[in-house]
Amino acid sequence: MAPAPPQAALVDRRPDRATITADVLAGLAVRPRALPSKYFYDARGSALFECITRQPEYYLTRTELELLPQVLPEIAAQVGPQARVVEYGSGSGRKTRLLLQALQDVVAYTPVEISRTALLDSVRALAVDFPAIEMLPVCADFTALPPLPPPQRSSRRTLLFFPGSTLGNFTEAAAVSILSGMRQAMGPQGLALIGIDLDKDPDVIEAAYNDVAGVTAAFTLNLLARLNREIDSDFDLSGFVHRARYASARRRIETSLVSLRTQVVHVAGQAFGFERDEAMHVEYSHKYDDAQFAAMAAAAGLRVRGAWDAAGRMFGLRLLQPA
Ligand code: TRP
Repeated sequence: MAPAPPQAALVDRRPDRATITADVLAGLAVRPRALPSKYFYDARGSALFECITRQPEYYLTRTELELLPQVLPEIAAQVGPQARVVEYGSGSGRKTRLLLQALQDVVAYTPVEISRTALLDSVRALAVDFPAIEMLPVCADFTALPPLPPPQRSSRRTLLFFPGSTLGNFTEAAAVSILSGMRQAMGPQGLALIGIDLDKDPDVIEAAYNDVAGVTAAFTLNLLARLNREIDSDFDLSGFVHRARYASARRRIETSLVSLRTQVVHVAGQAFGFERDEAMHVEYSHKYDDAQFAAMAAAAGLRVRGAWDAAGRMFGLRLLQPA
């Protein structure tokens, strides 16, 4: 067997305890209170999210995984050979595998993922299946990107891959700033392939975030368990419940942890009183229509070059290029 190509070390910008504590204190100081959703993804959170993606109600991942193989030959033809692939929030890497198979002679793959366990597991598995592709993993929050490690071979263009409608987890202003950052990162020849969930029947959307098996509820509550383990906090997991509602006018799922009673939570020596029924915001999941998504891309200096929708407009893929 040929020796494995030399691999650059993991770029590790995992948020530390002081950063997490400061973010949580800031979120508890404002009204309505909010906790940053990026902290969902510790090892257990990433595993629970994988489990969400396999629930019958959660149509997003299943639909995107069906759509990708149908459209990737056409996308691969537009991308061309010798691309460098950069993925934001790569998770388990199930979709990555389909992309790397479809593209010709990929130079390097750079997953940017906040969960160190998910990142290392996925890269280890991908390195076995794609030995010719240089793996350059980055453990970081993709909204605060460190300089990305340069590939050894030169590439013809950068393709940014951002599936899963993770973009929808940001407000419109934040999403536009992520798209602007992508435009910077991809360069003038670059392309971005983005998965977006499309607006549809509110009951279908709401069910996806309230699976009957309770996996999503366990996932949101795990945020509190993670904080209790990693910072100096004492959230009572039996004192909060998961709530996800579709706000049709704003085209978004609003996920909260709702306090079941009057209670006091301590974080880093500070006390925070919660009222009964007080909702602490944890996540948005925006759903898009074409005009609105195209306007966001335009605001970031990008234009939609290709658009593919799953049957029934259940989910969409968009290929963007600098305008
Ligand atoms: N990007 C996923 C989505 O918005 C993340 C997600 C799925 C999620 N289920 C969740 C986030 C429940 C918070 C709560 O669909």
